[in-house]
Amino acid sequence: MTMAGKHLLTLADMARGDLEALLNRAQHFSEGADSRGRLSGIAVCTLFFEPSTRTRLSFQRAAQRLGADVLNFDAATSSTTKGETDVDTLRNIEAMGVRGFVIRHREDCAVARLSDVVQPATKLINAGDGRSQHPTQGLLDMLTIRQAKGDDFSKLKIAIVGDIKHSRVARSDLCALRALGATDVRVCAPESLLPDAETLRGCTVEANVDKAVAGTDVVMTLRLQRERMQEGLVSSLEDYHRDYGITLDRMKLARPDAVVMHPGPMNRGIEISDEVADGPQSLILRQVANGVAVRMAVLETALAG
Ligand code: CP
Repeated sequence: MTMAGKHLLTLADMARGDLEALLNRAQHFSEGADSRGRLSGIAVCTLFFEPSTRTRLSFQRAAQRLGADVLNFDAATSSTTKGETDVDTLRNIEAMGVRGFVIRHREDCAVARLSDVVQPATKLINAGDGRSQHPTQGLLDMLTIRQAKGDDFSKLKIAIVGDIKHSRVARSDLCALRALGATDVRVCAPESLLPDAETLRGCTVEANVDKAVAGTDVVMTLRLQRERMQEGLVSSLEDYHRDYGITLDRMKLARPDAVVMHPGPMNRGIEISDEVADGPQSLILRQVANGVAVRMAVLETALAG
């Protein structure tokens, strides 16, 4: 696999074969494949400059299951509060013998920038940077779709609904869906929350959510970042829920066996109703479970051997 021993910064340039190899390995881990000692003696630090629940804890769980020593950097109690830069922070922890860094950052492309300052043996994994990419979320979403719908993505109709413009999850998902051969991907958002043409390459933009969801196999909804209302990009949360919320009535327009996904954290009653989030079509907790398996595959590929 060409990804072996490399940083994971983005899905934008990942070959289909590499993507499928990571998904296959993650599938084995999700079925309980032996992982003991794969990263024995290797130290991994979760270096998060932005809050997280799912990504940080599932990387910690993944690293523990592979036998790594896990260090957790807490920005709020760190010397970054005294003005230490992210580069100095990273290099100081690297000097302690840490080989793997799982990094979340507020700034676009921050993990690629940080990859320029580390030693060749040190590997960085992007755990979400700015609006750029969230590659392990993209991988776990693809694994979840594959488990539910099989591995021929060219047969699937997929709707992605919500704030795509500011979503690193949507960017990684769209890269992965293209690489895996998906051809019917509909994106639906208020015009103010649609991204640039390159992000939308190969997708159909559908303004009406009912039309976007009609006949789909998979509905992926995204968190509405509430600050978008203050910025005037969304008129009100009530309007947003009415026009773009995924509700039971809307899900009746999709295929009867359609599934619903959300990367979390959810705004219940805004982009998704309680009945859908907790209903039989929801794969939201399956996504979380798959996050551990995918992150095991990524850590192993980057750091083992
Ligand atoms: N999906 C996701 O990245 O969630 P967290 O922000 O909780 O890590």
